[in-house]
Amino acid sequence: MNGAIVIALSDERIQTAFWERPPAQHGIGDDIMLNHKYGYYFFPSLIAAIGIILGTSSLVAQNADWPWMGPGLSPAERAELVLRQLTLDEKLALLHGNGMAHVAQWQMPLTSLANGGAGYVEGVKRLGIPPLIISDAAYGVRDSGANGRYSTAMPSVLGEASSWDAQSACEYGKVIGRELRAQGFNMTLGGGINLAREPRNGRTFEYAGEDPLLAGTMVGNVMKCEQAQHVVGDLKHYTLNDQETGRGFVNSIISKRAMQESDLLAFHIALSIANPGAVMCSYNRINGEFSCENSYTLQDVLKRDWGFKGFVVSDWAGTHSTEKASAAGLDQEQPLADYFGPKLKEAVEAGRVPLSEIDDHALRILYAEFLSGIVDDPPQKSVIDVEKGLEIAQRLEEKNIVLLKNDREVLPIVPSRIQRIAIIGGHADVGMISGGGSAQVDPPGGNAIMPFGKGATHWQDQVWFPTSPLKALRAKLPHTKIDFDTGADVKSAVNLARSSDLAIVFAYQWESEGMDLPSLSLPGNQDFLIEQVAAANSHTIVVLETGTAVTMPWIDKVAAVVEAWYAGSAGHKALANILVGEINPTGKLAITFPNSEKDLPRPVIQAPPTQSQGEGTHLSIQVPNYAVHYDEGSKVGYKWYEAEHKHPLFAFGFGLSYTTYTYFSLSVDSATKTVHFTVKNTGKRAGTEIAEVYAKLPKSANESFKRLVGWKRLTLAPGESQTVTVAIDERVLRTFNEANDRWSLAPGDYEVCVGASSDNTPLSGSLLIR
Ligand code: BGC
Repeated sequence: MNGAIVIALSDERIQTAFWERPPAQHGIGDDIMLNHKYGYYFFPSLIAAIGIILGTSSLVAQNADWPWMGPGLSPAERAELVLRQLTLDEKLALLHGNGMAHVAQWQMPLTSLANGGAGYVEGVKRLGIPPLIISDAAYGVRDSGANGRYSTAMPSVLGEASSWDAQSACEYGKVIGRELRAQGFNMTLGGGINLAREPRNGRTFEYAGEDPLLAGTMVGNVMKCEQAQHVVGDLKHYTLNDQETGRGFVNSIISKRAMQESDLLAFHIALSIANPGAVMCSYNRINGEFSCENSYTLQDVLKRDWGFKGFVVSDWAGTHSTEKASAAGLDQEQPLADYFGPKLKEAVEAGRVPLSEIDDHALRILYAEFLSGIVDDPPQKSVIDVEKGLEIAQRLEEKNIVLLKNDREVLPIVPSRIQRIAIIGGHADVGMISGGGSAQVDPPGGNAIMPFGKGATHWQDQVWFPTSPLKALRAKLPHTKIDFDTGADVKSAVNLARSSDLAIVFAYQWESEGMDLPSLSLPGNQDFLIEQVAAANSHTIVVLETGTAVTMPWIDKVAAVVEAWYAGSAGHKALANILVGEINPTGKLAITFPNSEKDLPRPVIQAPPTQSQGEGTHLSIQVPNYAVHYDEGSKVGYKWYEAEHKHPLFAFGFGLSYTTYTYFSLSVDSATKTVHFTVKNTGKRAGTEIAEVYAKLPKSANESFKRLVGWKRLTLAPGESQTVTVAIDERVLRTFNEANDRWSLAPGDYEVCVGASSDNTPLSGSLLIR
C-alpha cells in the first residue's frame, strides 16, 4: 500500500487519493489502484478495512518521504517544503505553458496533455505535484463542442451581477467549478472583473458592471465558491483592459489615484473574498508599461500592498520580455514558453535573473496548488449533472432579469385578459443568443441558428442556444394563441402585432472578445422594427438579450422593457416565468444605460493608427503610440453621470418589480458605520427588493458623486415592513493619496443616501467621521 493515503471511508467504498510513485516503490495492492495518474480510487469494503490498517502505516512512511503531504501544514508551508526538493529545471517547468488545444499556431510537444483546454503546465510527478490542466470558464466551461462534452451555460456575468446576490454568485461558481472537475480540469480562467468603464467593450458580458464594490463582491463570491470545488481560481484581466480595440498594445493612461479607487479596488475586493490561486495580467499597457511587466500593478500593488500569495499568469501571448517581466512579478507565461522557457534558463545561468526570483515564482504556483486543494483532491472525470446545472442556471437567471419599464402593468401577462400574443423577431422561435470569444460555452446540439452551422464553432461566431422563448411561453400559456413572426418583413410583423392583444418583440445585441461594439444601438433593423410594432400595438413589450447597455430611441413608445442579458442554458424558462408573473422580477442594473453615446466619457472609441482588431493581428501587431486616456478617472458609470449632470436612460441600480416599495426612517450610527432604515412592500405581491446605500464624501474631498457603500436584498410579503441594517464598507469610502501611496478616510460629514437606485435615493442622513 505504499503510495496510497486513505482519506475517507464510506459504507461500501473507500476513497483514496493516490500519488504515483516510481515503480520500484510500489507495494502489494498498488496495481489494483494504479489506473489513473492523479485520480480517486474506489474499492470494496474488505480491502478498505485492510486499507485503514496499512494506510495508517503508509501515511507515516509517506509523510516521512513527502512531508508536505502530512497533516497540519499550511499551503505556504507545504509549498516551501516542496520547493526545497526541486531542481532548477523542475522549477522552470512550472513557469510556462505548453501550448493551447484547438489553436493551430499554439501547439507544443505536451499540448495533447491539456485535456482539450487552454493550457497545460507540467507538475512534478515524483513529488506528487499535479500538472495544471487549464480551461476557460467565464460563464461555463469552454470548448465542450470540440471536446465532445457538455457544459452548462450560466447567465452572463453582467446578468449575474444584476442579482446583487452573493449567494447566487456562489452557486454560479460552484456549478462551473464542479463542471471543470468533471471534465478533468483543475484550473479555471474565469473571474473577469474589468470595470465597465467603456460599455462598448466587447467583453462587458464577461464582467460584473461598473461599480467596484458590486463587481468585487459578485466576482469574489463566484471565484471563492468555484475554487472551493478544488480548482485553482483566477481573477482577470489585471488590469485596465477596459476595451478590446487594440487590446494587445493600447496604453491605458490613468492617474494612480483614479485606478486605485476604481479598477484596482474592484480587483482588491474580489481578491479579499476569493483568495484565488491566480491573477491573470492583461494584454494592454498601463501608463506606458505592459500589464504583464508592470512592476507597479504587479509587484507594488498586487503582491506587496495586497499581500497576494498566488501566482500571476500572463494572458495568452501577453508576455513581452524575460528579465523585465520576471522582475516585475510575472510568474507564469502562457500559453507558450517564448520568454519563460529556454530564455529564462539562460538568463538565470548568466546571472541576469536571480535564483530567488525563480524560487518566488515557483513557490507561488505550488502555493496555489495546495491552497486550492488540487493536490489532495485531484479532479476525476465524471458525467456532468446536467439537470442540476439547468435548474441552477434557471434560478439564477430569474434573479438576473431586470424589468426596466412596465406601463399600465402590461406585465405580468394575465391569460384571462390576453387571447392572442404576437412574438416577433430575435429568432425567438429557435433560441437565445450567447456571448462569444474565449468565454463561449457551446450549446447542446451545436449552434441553434444557421448560417453558422452545427458543430464546432469559430471563437467569434454568433452562437445561439436552443432555448426558444416562444416554446417556453407556449408551455406556460397553453390556452393563449401565440404566433410568431421573424420580423424580417416589418409589414408582416406589424400586421401580426395589430391583430394581437399583446406584442412581444425580441431584440438582441451580440458581443465578443476581440472586438468592441461600434455603438450601443441594437444592430440591424431592430430599432425600426420595434418602433413600427409599437405604433401598431400599444401593448408592446421589448425583451432584450444583450451583453451590455443599449440605447432605446423607441423607449417612450413601448409599454414594457425586460432585460434578459445572455440568459444561459435555461434562460427561456426563466424569462417565461417572469413574463407570466410566476416569478416577480428583482434584478437591478449593474451598468448604466445611457441615452446616447454622446453622454459617455468618450463618445467614440478611437481606432488605432493601424487597424488591428480581430484575431491574428491583435496580439502580433504593436502600435506603440495608441493610447486611451481615462480622464474620467474614478468616475466610472453612474459616478460620471452624476458628476456631469447627465441623465441616463436607466440608472445604475435601477430595476422594477411587480410590486412597489417605500423607504423610510433612516438612522445612521457613525460609531459603528451602520445605517438602519425601513422598507415597506406597498403593493399586492410578495417581492424581493434590493435596497441600496450610497455615500457622498465630505465637501472638503471635492467629489461630486456618490459611491455605492452597501446594499441589502430583502423579501417582503404584501404590506410587510422590515427594518434593515447595512454596514458601510469602509474600503469604498477611502481616498488614495498619491504622494505617500496611502489610503485615508477623510474626516467630516458624509451624506448617506438610501433608496431603490443610484438616481432615486429618497432617504438621506449624515455619517460623521472624526
Ligand atoms: C483571453 C483570456 C483567455 C485566454 C485563453 C485570451 O485571449 O483574453 O481571457 O483566458 O485567451 O483562452
